[in-house]
Amino acid sequence: MSGPAPAPPGQAPDASLEALSAGMRFGALTALDGVSLRVAPGELYGLVGPDGAGKTTLIRLLAGLLVPTSGALRVTGRDPVRDSRRVRELLGYMPQAYSLYGDLSVGENLRFFGSLFALPRDVFHERRARLLGITRLERFADRRADALSGGMYKKLALACALLHRPRVLLLDEPTNGVDPVSRRDLWDLLREFVLEGMSVLISTPYMDEAARCHRVGLLSEGRLLLEGSPERLVADFPHPVFRVDAADRAAAERLLQGRAEVVALSPAGRALRVVVAQGQAEGLAAALAPAGCRLERVRPDFEDLFLERTRVHGEAR
Ligand SMILES: Nc1ncnc2c1ncn2[C@@H]1O[C@H](COP(=O)(O)OP(=O)(O)O)[C@@H](O)[C@H]1O
Ligand SMILES: [Mg+2]
Repeated sequence: MSGPAPAPPGQAPDASLEALSAGMRFGALTALDGVSLRVAPGELYGLVGPDGAGKTTLIRLLAGLLVPTSGALRVTGRDPVRDSRRVRELLGYMPQAYSLYGDLSVGENLRFFGSLFALPRDVFHERRARLLGITRLERFADRRADALSGGMYKKLALACALLHRPRVLLLDEPTNGVDPVSRRDLWDLLREFVLEGMSVLISTPYMDEAARCHRVGLLSEGRLLLEGSPERLVADFPHPVFRVDAADRAAAERLLQGRAEVVALSPAGRALRVVVAQGQAEGLAAALAPAGCRLERVRPDFEDLFLERTRVHGEAR
C-alpha cells in the first residue's frame, strides 16, 4: 500500500481535508470560486453561509462526487477522485438530501451500509449495537426509515456514515429541521468522535452550532469570506452592536433601515439588534433619540458577524 501523496509546498502533510484553490463551475454559474481551506486531524470545522453559497458543492468535491473545474482537493493527502477507493474507506459522508432507503428498516439500512464496506459479521454486530445505543434507536430497529421522525432519520444517516469508522467525516447540514433534543444528541455524538481524533467538516445554517466548532469558515457566493475560531472572530469584530428598544418597533425599524450608519439589522425578541459602522454610534443615537429609541451596547455574537459579512441588511420579520 502506498503512502499519501507528498503535500504541496506550504501545506503541512497531516491535513485531513484540504481544498487548494478549488473552483467549480456549472455552465455559466460559478458555484465555488477558488476556495482554500484545511481541516487538521481531530478538528471540528464548521462551514456556514447562506443558501447557494457553495457549501454542498465543496462537500461533494471533497467526497469525490464532483471533479473541480480548477484547483484540487485532498483527503488525508489523497485525490478524492483519482484515489476514490482508498478515500471511500477513510471518509464518512452524510449528504444534505435523503440518503437512506426509505422502504428499508433501521436495521436493514445499517446492514446495507455494513455490506458496502464488507464489514466482518462480528465487527458489524458490535458497531451496530454501539451506534444504535448512542443514537438511542434500538427500540426502532424494525421501523422503516421513511416512518422515522426527522431527527431519528438524521441520526440513522449519521450512524450509517460512521459504520466503517471513518477518520474523516463530511456532514452536510445534519441538523437542519431536527428538533432541539435530537440536535443536542447529534452534537454530543460528534464531540465524542472528535475527541477520539476524527476530523469533521460540518455545514450548518445555525449560528449556535457554528460557535461550537474549533474553527469556522464563512462561505458566500462561492468565496471563503473569513475563517478562524469563533471566539477570535467575535473578539476581532470591529463594529459596535446595540440593542434598540422602542415603543413602536415597526417605526424604529423603518427609521433604522434608511440610515447609513446601520450595517445590519435583525429582530431580537421585542427589540431590534443593530450592527453599527465603526465610529458612528453617537450620531445614530442622537438621530434616534427624538423617535423614543433607547440604545444599549451589547456584546457582538457570531450572527452579527455573519450578517455584516454577507451584507444582509434589515429584512427584520
Ligand atoms: N449540479 C448543479 N448544476 C447546476 N448548478 C448547481 C449544481 N449544484 C449546485 N449548483 C448551484 O451552485 C450554487 C451553490 O450551490 P450549493 O453548493 O448547493 O450551495 P449551498 O449548499 O451553500 O446552499 C447554487 O447557485 C446552486 O444552484
Ligand atoms: Mg447545501
